[in-house]
Amino acid sequence: MKKLIEAAKKVRKNAHAIYSNYKVGAAVLTIDDSIITGCNVESSSYGLTCCAERVALFSAVANGHNKFKALAVITEDGGTPCGACRQVIWDLCGDIPVYIADENGNIEETTSKELLPNAFDDSSLK
Ligand code: THU
Repeated sequence: MKKLIEAAKKVRKNAHAIYSNYKVGAAVLTIDDSIITGCNVESSSYGLTCCAERVALFSAVANGHNKFKALAVITEDGGTPCGACRQVIWDLCGDIPVYIADENGNIEETTSKELLPNAFDDSSLK
């Protein structure tokens, strides 16, 4: 868990957050113990911005990973994943531990199910 949070902390430095100035780092742990990271990348067309969590997860998928064990997210103040990311985390990871950290060393442990109770589930699509 420490390693995962450290990876999220490191990638947070790369955040392209020139409009909000709110930098986010995320790191996902794959079933085979790889760590894949992502940071938020903002666009001048604000709606095109991509959150750190989705950058990390989409990058993991693009690199051939599709089973995940845990996710860490770090911000200055311990902000939690947005609604859109909660759905993507649920879709790709199912119920996994999610560590929410801040730059003061505080860590909160939750789960993707706690973050998105009664989620829309892709089993509805089969
Ligand atoms: N952001 C994330 O990266 N993850 C979240 O779950 C919440 C919001 C980013 C998007 C935008 O670049 C900035 O934080 C402010 O909303």
